[in-house]
Order: sequence, then structure tokens, then C-alpha cells
Amino acid sequence: MTERIVLAYSGGLDTSVAIGWIGEATGAEVIAVAVDVGQGGESLETIRQRALGCGAVEAYVADASDEFANEYCIPTLKANALYQGHYPLVSAISRPVIVKHLVKAAREFGATTVAHGCTGKGNDQVRFEVGIQTLGPDLKCIAPVRDLALTRDKAIAFAEEKGLPIETTKKNPYSIDQNVWGRAVETGYLEDIWNAPTKDIYDYTATPEFPPAPDEVTISFEAGVPVAIDGVRVTPLQAIKELNRRAGAQGVGRIDVVEDRLVGIKSREIYEAPGAMALITAHKHLEDITVEREQARFKATVGQRWAELVYDGQWFSPLKRSLDAFIEDTQKYVSGDIRMTLHGGQAVVNGRRSETSLYDFDLATYDTGDTFDQSMARGFIELWGMSAKVASGRDIRVAGQ
Ligand code: ARG
Repeated sequence: MTERIVLAYSGGLDTSVAIGWIGEATGAEVIAVAVDVGQGGESLETIRQRALGCGAVEAYVADASDEFANEYCIPTLKANALYQGHYPLVSAISRPVIVKHLVKAAREFGATTVAHGCTGKGNDQVRFEVGIQTLGPDLKCIAPVRDLALTRDKAIAFAEEKGLPIETTKKNPYSIDQNVWGRAVETGYLEDIWNAPTKDIYDYTATPEFPPAPDEVTISFEAGVPVAIDGVRVTPLQAIKELNRRAGAQGVGRIDVVEDRLVGIKSREIYEAPGAMALITAHKHLEDITVEREQARFKATVGQRWAELVYDGQWFSPLKRSLDAFIEDTQKYVSGDIRMTLHGGQAVVNGRRSETSLYDFDLATYDTGDTFDQSMARGFIELWGMSAKVASGRDIRVAGQ
């Protein structure tokens, strides 16, 4: 029987050419799998037909947009995960869900190998292949761009020679990856890290310099999950989409960073994540009133580690799973409403309320009605500083000898 290979298919030039390229190089039949993670753009049926037109023996489309929102974006939100303090893991969290569907398709169609369109220089090859090793240890991996010398020039020549139903002339100097959690743009003119991004780079956000009137929004959470916007019940996917629209119109969530790739390269990336950044800001502010101080401090460290693991392709690892359990435990009381103003590139929180709040007005107030006994503070400070005071006494004693 002819060997079968499942290819992660985006509908773009490289993966369209990869169908025939893999076929010619290996003699295998190619099954194209497109996964909807809310990337928008062309209809999935158009993409499916193109795969067949490019020689795929089967083309399979997985609608994973709700699954992606519920099981990948929401955990990222609960962790307030920002890699290196900036990047909300847009591409990093989409790879594991795509892997899940690739492995599923490999089983359904009797494939022995999974293929993807990544180069050998990035993080995504690692995320795909580590994911596949974990979910389908018997499956092999192949990356035509990396392993079968499929360069851009060769791809264009191949598409023209075979008359593939794909545009080869459109000049887009950028490499773009997008889904409902955000959009990542790299390469081209951006590789000079002194160059400011030009306007044409952005798609999810409008220019924050000329914003429309301020937009006030109330986001309601239950146990860390956004459940309503301005009082209207929403699913996680709807919440992200609605905030992409409203925060995007205000230019919220533009990020320009040089980040550390797992493979040791520093690379410049422009992100747009209006919904994600608005939600993380709101969620963090709700945690500020509902999560106990020590738990909150520790959670910040856990969230950072979580972000690194996910960035580094360890989504299905035991440590990531253990950290998830901790984070989930902290979300029990993260319920309530956050009011914020979206305007001119900023999402600024200006009100919060919660039935499970730890904010105690009577303890906090400086007005009459104060229940805090200030006389307790002196003794507390005395003991709190004792250890450092004893050590400093020793320093003075030793210095005097
Ligand atoms: N640097 C980001 C990451 O590794 C995004 C990579 C997405 N690819 C792109 N073509 N911009 O998660």
C-alpha cells in the first residue's frame, strides 16, 4: 500500500506546493489538513478545494475555533501568560491544537507521517514535532522547507510549471501567522530592528493615534473565564472576537519586540492581540482583588514559567500540566466585573466589583469607620525588621574589629 502523509495545510503558496513536492520526493500520498483556529480570511471550503487542486488525495477541514478558544486561549488568560513580559503566545498556543487534529487525521486516514511547512530556524517546527512525538509517538515528521530543500524560488517555479491553482505573483514581504488570539508578523523590512513598523503591517488594529471616541466596556468573569460583555452572555470565542473588534478599533494590543527563540536566535516580531491584551488586563485586575497576596505573588512566577514552557513547545509536558492544576486552583474566586475604557491604544481599568472580593473597605479606609487597629503596626514592624537588624549589628561589630 502507498504510504500516506498528513500535511498541515494553510492554503498558502508553500504548503500548496508542498503537496506535490512531498509526493515527488517520497512517493507518498498527501492528505491536506486545514485547521480553523479563527484565522479568518478565505473560506475553509475554498482552501479544501485548493488542496485537492494541488494534488492532495484527501483534504480535511477541522473547525477548532471554539476548542482553541476554550482549551488554549482561556488557560493562557488564566495564566496571564506573556512570554518575556510582552507576547501573549499567539502562535505558540495554536500549534498544539493543530497537532491534535493532525494526529487525529493521521489515524483516520492511515498515515504514517506528519508534515508541516515550518523552516528549520523557528519555534514552530519544535512545537509541531514535540507535540506529534507526544500524541503520536509512532508517527514520523517531515518538513519540506527544512528537509526537502523547498525554497521560495523553487516553490514559485514548481507552482508555475505544474499550473497549480495558487497565486505566485503576490509579493508579501512578511511572514504572517494569525488566529483569534492575535496576529504575528515578521521578516522583510522588520529585520532591521531600528525600522519602525509601517502602517500596512497591521490588520487587527487601527492606528491608535487617531482613535474614535473612548469605548467603555464591562467584562464579567466566572472563575477566571470571561462570560459576559456589557451584560450579554458570551462564549470565550465570542468574548475574544468582540474584544478584537472593539479594542482593535482603538489600536489596543500592538506589540513590537525582539524575542528569544528556543533555537537561540533573537528575532523581531510585531504582534497585534487586541482582544487578548484587553482580556489579560481585565483578568489581572480582577485577580488583584480576589486572589490572596501570597498566592498572587507565587502565581506571577508560575505564569511566567508557564509562558516559557508553552513558548518552548512543551504544551503536552507533565510540568505544564502540573502548573495548570495550580493555576486552576487560584481561579476559584476570580469572579466579578471589570469596567475599562478602551482608547488610543490603551485598555485602562477604572472599576471593579466582585462578590468574592478580598478588598475590605472598612480595613482600607482612612475615613471614620476604620476597623484597622493601627497600634498593632509598631510591634509588627519591630519583629519584621528583627532579622535584618541583628545581621546589621553583626556587620558593625565585625567592621570595628
Ligand atoms: N515568534 C512567534 C512565536 O514563535 C511567532 C511565530 C509565528 N510566525 C510568523 N510567521 N510570524 O511564537
